[in-house]
Amino acid sequence: MSATLIRSIPIIILVAGPFVAFSQQPPPSEPKVFEVVARRFSFEPSTIEVTEGDAVRLLVRSADGPHGVEIKAFKVKKAVPRAKPGDSPVTIEFVATAAGEYPILCSEYCGKGHEEMTGALVVRAKPKGDQ
Ligand code: CUA
Repeated sequence: MSATLIRSIPIIILVAGPFVAFSQQPPPSEPKVFEVVARRFSFEPSTIEVTEGDAVRLLVRSADGPHGVEIKAFKVKKAVPRAKPGDSPVTIEFVATAAGEYPILCSEYCGKGHEEMTGALVVRAKPKGDQ
């Protein structure tokens, strides 16, 4: 081994160190992913359960006409367009920062049952000692 190579090894370790440490565990905010179908006049699943502090990703598709997803407490409001073959789902991301039960509303008028088209987001309190 040449003297030059030996001298450069500590530098390589210093540079690579943070990347190695990062790859050993998943990022802390790996989202909880839920596939949701919006249809006249319900969400499927109708209840989504997460834990306080979770990053949440909803992948929402319509099964018929235009709908929307609104969760006021987490400033979520997004339109879900009419179903079309080959469409990718609408992605909604937020962090469930506070425990509680929150209504999921349809934010686009979709017919007679629009007002009744609701779901629930249940955010469980983080277990003690798991902060
Ligand atoms: Cu669905 Cu309004």
